[in-house]
Formats: sequence, structure tokens, C-alpha cells
Amino acid sequence: MAIDKKFIELFHNVTVQAAFASHYLIGKKNKVAADKAAVDSMRNELNKINMNGQIVIGEGELDKAPMLYIGEKLGTGKGPYLDIAVDPLEGTNFVANNLPGALSVIAIAENSNLFNAPETYMDKIAISSSENGIVDLDNSVSQNIENLAEYKNTQPNNLTACILDRPRHKEYIDQLKALKVNLRLISDGDISGALLVTNKDYNVDIFFGIGGGPEGVLAATALDSYGCYFQGRFLFESENDKLRAKKMGIENLEKKYEINEIVSGDSIFCATGITTGDLVKGINILQDSFSSETLITHKSTGIKKVVKSNHKI
Ligand code: FBP
Repeated sequence: MAIDKKFIELFHNVTVQAAFASHYLIGKKNKVAADKAAVDSMRNELNKINMNGQIVIGEGELDKAPMLYIGEKLGTGKGPYLDIAVDPLEGTNFVANNLPGALSVIAIAENSNLFNAPETYMDKIAISSSENGIVDLDNSVSQNIENLAEYKNTQPNNLTACILDRPRHKEYIDQLKALKVNLRLISDGDISGALLVTNKDYNVDIFFGIGGGPEGVLAATALDSYGCYFQGRFLFESENDKLRAKKMGIENLEKKYEINEIVSGDSIFCATGITTGDLVKGINILQDSFSSETLITHKSTGIKKVVKSNHKI
């Protein structure tokens, strides 16, 4: 079954309002307040929608997150059963420090069709082609780059790789440099980083590295609509993490997840800009209104577009 098109506008409004609420905290050096503004708004708006929604990826578990916690039921209770993944503020540093690229993000799938991701890191890899076997998390960096160069009929020095600039990625980055691959190092925001493979204009051929697991699932939902390739493997550091994963039903902790194991059936993805970044512009305040830009995908109708809209304040 498909998710009715009318939900696109409803979820679009959810991320627009969350982005707007958070934009007041741009440059205020307060990550917690910026996140809280987005979370409060998102929860409020989600509860107005006629649906039986349930958070599968949110702000954490009930004991740590009073709102938008995993398992929280949202909506009026009238309407379809939907799985909801949220990242009300992706890039808390970006808002706190007035830097480009902050987004408010949501992904929706039908009941039980969206992966219930634990709050751990995930090793991720994405390319624009959906073809299997070009890149793989078990390949070495050089193997992935050589395969991709061959597939694209080019040389490694013509490829660009996007990766979070973190000490944990030093070895990867050194290997990319040795292969003369162009680097696109990002300081935060790896949902956006992964989505840079969707369009030639972004000039990113491969995204990979370790970032948040929830961000991986959110990015995978949009990449699914774009027909891109994504693979992710959760990384469990502590015994506690492993125990929680088992409780969530994850039997094989080493498993590599392909996109269709993360999201299946129909889906909607909305990412509204808070500060202007690669994908969308940020919230722009006009006299008695504001404008926003949102990247929207809807799998069943093939919608993949940036929607600009104006809203009364
Ligand atoms: P927040 O918005 O929660 O601060 O996350 C930003 C982010 O850069 C994500 O995009 C990314 O997945 C994660 O943090 C990486 O985590 P870390 O900063 O611990 O490397």
C-alpha cells in the first residue's frame, strides 16, 4: 500500500515548523535549546495529524527523552499506522554557531517498514548507482575506489569522497589522499553528506565513514527514493549497547544492512533547511512571514524535489 499523497504536505509542514522554531536559536551557542525548540514544535505538529504514528527513531528511549522517544505514539489516533523517524535538529553545532547545513528531518514509512535503529554509531557507505557489488563495507578503501572508478570509467583522481572530518577517520582519509581522491570533509551533518551522492551537481561520488545510526536510517530512506546504493552496519561499543540492540530484536550485531532491509514499501522524507546548506536554503524571515526550502521524496509517486514555501508568522 502507498502512503496517501496528502501526507506529504502534512509532514512537510512538520519540518518547516520545527526549522522555524529552531531558527530563533541560530548563533546563540545553545545546542540544547535549539534542539528542544525543534523537538517541541515537531511533537506538537505531529500530534495534529490524523494517523496512528509511532516513533521508531527519535530522541532516545523514554528514560532519557521525555519527548519523541522510541515507541512514543503520535497523531490523533485516526488514520493509517505509520512508522516515524525524526531528527528534529540535524546539526546542533550548525545552529548554535550559525554555520551552514542545519536541517530538520523526518522520514515516514508504513507500519513495521522502517528500521528501529539503536542510538549507536553506524559504518555507512553510499553511491549514486543502486547496483550491488560496486562498493561494500567489507572492501578496503582502495578496492571501493578502484571499483567505483572502473564503473564510472574514470580514474580515482577524478572522484570525490565525502566523509566526516573525525580523528576516527584518519586512516580512511590518508588512504584517500594516497589514491589522490578529492576530499569533501564535513564537520557535521552526515544525512546531508550521504545525500550529496544523489545529484551530479554536488560533485560527490562516494560518501562513507562512521556517523550516527539514526542519521543512517534517515538518509537511507531518501536514498531509496533516489535509487541510490546504501549499506550500513551498526557499531556497538559497550556491553550495554549490545544488550539494548538484542532487546530491539537485532540478533546479528555484525550484520551489514542493505537499503531494502532498512526501509521497505512506500516512504516520505522531508528535510527543511534551518541554516542554508548544500541541499536547501535556510529559514528566511520576511516582514510578517518566512520562507523555507524542503527536500521532499515520496517513493511511490517518484517525487524528489526541493519545495519552496512561504508561511505567515
Ligand atoms: P547532532 O545534530 O545530533 O549534533 O549530530 C550531528 C552529527 O554530525 C550527525 O550528522 C552525525 O551522524 C553525528 O553527529 C556524528 O557524531 P560525532 O559528532 O560523535 O562524530
